[in-house]
Amino acid sequence: MIVAALQWCGCQNTPTTKATTITNKDSNWWKSAVIYQLYPRSFKDSDGDGIGDLKGILSELDYLQSLGIDAIWLNPIYSSPNDDNGYDVSDYRAIMKDFGTMEDFDALLAAMHQRGLKLIMDIVVNHSSDEHDWFRQSRSSRNNPYRNYYHWWPAEKGKPPYRYSLFDINHDAWKYDSLTNAYYLHYFGVKQPDLNWENPKLRQEIYDMMEFWAQKGVDGFRLDAFQFAAKDTSWPHLPQGYEQQFAKHVAMKPAIHNYLREMNEQVLSKYGVMSVAEGAGNSFEDAHQLVDAARKELNMAYAFEAVDLAKSSGYNLLQFKRVFSTWDSAFAKEGWLSIFLANHDNARMVTRFASDAPEHNPYAATMLHTFLLSMRGTPYCYYGDELGMTNPGFNSITDYRDKPALNDYQYQLKQGKKAATILTEMRFSCRDNGRTPMQWNTSANAGFTTGTPWIAVNKNYTTLNVAAQQKDSTSCLTYFKKMVALRKREPALVHGSYTLVDANNQQVYAYTRSWKDKKVLVLLNFSGKQATVQTGYQLSTATPLLYNYATPPSATLRPYEAVVYALQTP
Ligand code: NOJ
Repeated sequence: MIVAALQWCGCQNTPTTKATTITNKDSNWWKSAVIYQLYPRSFKDSDGDGIGDLKGILSELDYLQSLGIDAIWLNPIYSSPNDDNGYDVSDYRAIMKDFGTMEDFDALLAAMHQRGLKLIMDIVVNHSSDEHDWFRQSRSSRNNPYRNYYHWWPAEKGKPPYRYSLFDINHDAWKYDSLTNAYYLHYFGVKQPDLNWENPKLRQEIYDMMEFWAQKGVDGFRLDAFQFAAKDTSWPHLPQGYEQQFAKHVAMKPAIHNYLREMNEQVLSKYGVMSVAEGAGNSFEDAHQLVDAARKELNMAYAFEAVDLAKSSGYNLLQFKRVFSTWDSAFAKEGWLSIFLANHDNARMVTRFASDAPEHNPYAATMLHTFLLSMRGTPYCYYGDELGMTNPGFNSITDYRDKPALNDYQYQLKQGKKAATILTEMRFSCRDNGRTPMQWNTSANAGFTTGTPWIAVNKNYTTLNVAAQQKDSTSCLTYFKKMVALRKREPALVHGSYTLVDANNQQVYAYTRSWKDKKVLVLLNFSGKQATVQTGYQLSTATPLLYNYATPPSATLRPYEAVVYALQTP
């Protein structure tokens, strides 16, 4: 299963073009920020080719600004043959043709900065595309100066030690290349060879490339799959089956910290850009080593433990609370967390963590937003979730576009699994579920494109779309904006200490956030049934700051009801 395998794992920025020094006045802006993750391929198409693009994003800046968010993380927009939708970069300093030009990028960045919106680039440097010039050179001969930019195993030494590939059709991470009679390593797809971070020249190229974007004025970097960048190149024997604990065996090799400190010194601290790693290692200790400020590595990381809990058979709320509570306590004094329930590698959060049944719309999604926006840590909201977008319910394998998922489908068929069973699982968990076009309005293709969309639009766009929700004071979108605004004006929601309340309640997730003389109580009914909660607080004297039903809350919580109370403090 791809999803299982994927366990790898307010200040204003000065608009700049050629900045050479720190641009952010508040170097900790990311702590109080709400970050919106935008999948460029699926957001808005400006030229009718069926693929979202930078001009499309530019045309929707009013909308993005209206959300109240602070920063936008763009999935990769560099030149790429698109074997993994841009996570296979063939030129780190050029824009993917499907998305536009460098002029479009510059215009977008300038327009975002004018509106006080920050931009976070996705940096994909555990691997490149096999169509990157570095790899073309590297594979051309054993003596080529770029040979050591990648990991090669000479075939005269026999077969290389078994390594698992997350995306390969046979899950074999070594690909034989007859040109030089050697194997190259690819933890992801066969067209995504792993870069050799032990090579100082390669590292310098990466820092220079990051500097290129920092000088343009980007505000942050998200480091893709970086926990795998450092490898144990003594290539120890790893047994078949180690992939069940893939990250434990291959992530966070010690040299990673040297690389990050070097990157921090050469780029991150020099330009004051925010940094977040995909993956937080295998323990709290790993995570602290990545993000504790004194170590001068990264600002944040995001861990997968919580997002991986949701299975088609459901998940256990007590476990969900335990995961979030333990991560919070481990970071209560030092370090900073990212809070998310969805991204481009996961199906839609409302389908996975609540309910996408129409009768629960918008309560299920607004309840989840209340959660994301009231926890300690920086919330990441995935495009379309502000509307409560759901899984599309694709019925045929031909509806899917994600190559790793298609490879895995073939792999599972070979293992003897029935197509119908695999499709049922994909309908719940395949990451394409979270990549369908943004639903703007009721016009053809939900207003996403005038052409043929690269992946089908969810059929529910006729009722679930931006235009309808903008007009509706009870919509998910309206609530999302209110919740963002509440977080902005209530420092307790950003900085306050977190205390779990009624810990063993199997339907309700309840907690307080306390900051100075303020205490906020959050009640979230994670179930589709009425629920009660023992808070120990006198709710009749508390002030509801926000709730997701049209009528005020009472002692019994309605299905997926969410309430944020201000408590009376002595
Ligand atoms: C993690 C990214 O989030 C995912 O989308 C991508 O496929 C892999 N890394 C490989 O780059």
